[in-house]
Amino acid sequence: MDESLVGDENNHTRLETIVTDGIVAAVLRSRKYRAVCPDTVRRIARRELANRGDVKTAVKETKRKLHQVYGAYEEPVDYHAAHTRLAVAYETRSEAEVRAVCRGLLARHASTRERLPILDEFYPPIWAVTGRPASLLDLGCGLNPLTIPWMDLAPGTRYHAFDIDADRVAFLNRTLALAGCLRLARCQDILCQPPDAKADVALLLKTIPCLDRQEPDGARRVLTSLRTRFVVAGFAIKSLGGREKGMARNYQAQFLALAEEQSWPVTRLAFATELVFVAQLETGS
Ligand SMILES: C[S@@+](CC[C@H](N)C(=O)[O-])C[C@H]1O[C@@H](n2cnc3c(N)ncnc32)[C@H](O)[C@@H]1O
Repeated sequence: MDESLVGDENNHTRLETIVTDGIVAAVLRSRKYRAVCPDTVRRIARRELANRGDVKTAVKETKRKLHQVYGAYEEPVDYHAAHTRLAVAYETRSEAEVRAVCRGLLARHASTRERLPILDEFYPPIWAVTGRPASLLDLGCGLNPLTIPWMDLAPGTRYHAFDIDADRVAFLNRTLALAGCLRLARCQDILCQPPDAKADVALLLKTIPCLDRQEPDGARRVLTSLRTRFVVAGFAIKSLGGREKGMARNYQAQFLALAEEQSWPVTRLAFATELVFVAQLETGS
C-alpha cells in the first residue's frame, strides 16, 4: 500500500480520537451524566460522530441517547444519606425495617418503582425454575440489588452487579456488604465488555430493550456470550409514560425467537407489571 495513504489513515484515526475525546469530556461535564462510565459515553459518541459528522450535534445526540437508556429512569439519590439509613436499619436486625428502607430507595428508580407492587411474589416462582442461585449476575442492575431482602439467598451468595453509573455502583457495593455479600458490583459497560463470570443465573430485568436501543443486536450479543445456566429476562408491560403500546407482545416475540434459535427451553411468568422469561442456557446433559 502507498505509505502516504497509511499516513493519511493514521492521521484520520488520530483526529477522530481527539474529536471523540472532546465530545466525551463535554458530555461528562454535564451534571446529569458526570457519573456515567466513560466507555459508554465514548461508544455512543463515536457512533453519533460517524452518523452526524459535526461535534455540536454529536454532543447533543450522545446526551439524547444517554437520556433514553439511563437518564429517563433516574431520580437524584443522596447515596451517603441512603447508606446511613440502610446501615441503621441493618443494625436493628429487623427484616421489616430493612425492607421498609429498601422499598423507599427502590422507588427512586423508575424501573424498580414499577416492581414494588409485585416484589413479595416476584422471586419464588423464578427460583422455582432455576433453583435458588448460589451465584448471580444482575446486568444493567439499576437499584435492583436492593431487592436482595426479598431473594432469600443463602449467606455467601456471589452477587455480581453491573451498571454504568459509578456513584450508584459505589453505593451498591456498600449495600452488598451490609447484606452479607461480597462487594462484586462493577461500573462496567456490558456492551463494551460483556461479563465473563460463570454463575447460576443472569438477571436482565428490563435491560434487553435498553441494550438494543444502543446497538443493533446488542442484547443478542450479550445474551449469547453469557456463561450462566439460566437467564431471567424481564420486560416492562407499559412505557415509562404509562402507555401500553403492544410492548409485551413485541418483546415476547423477539425473545422467544432468539430462544428457539438457540434451543433454550423457556418458562413464561406474567406478573402484573412485568413479563418475565426464564431461559435455560445449559441443560447440564
Ligand atoms: C431499564 S433500567 C433497568 C434497571 C434494573 N435492571 C431493573 O429492572 O430494576 C436499565 C439499566 O441498565 C443500565 N445500563 C444501560 N446501558 C448499559 C450498559 N451498556 N452496560 C451496563 N448497564 C447499562 C442503566 O444504567 C439502567 O440502570
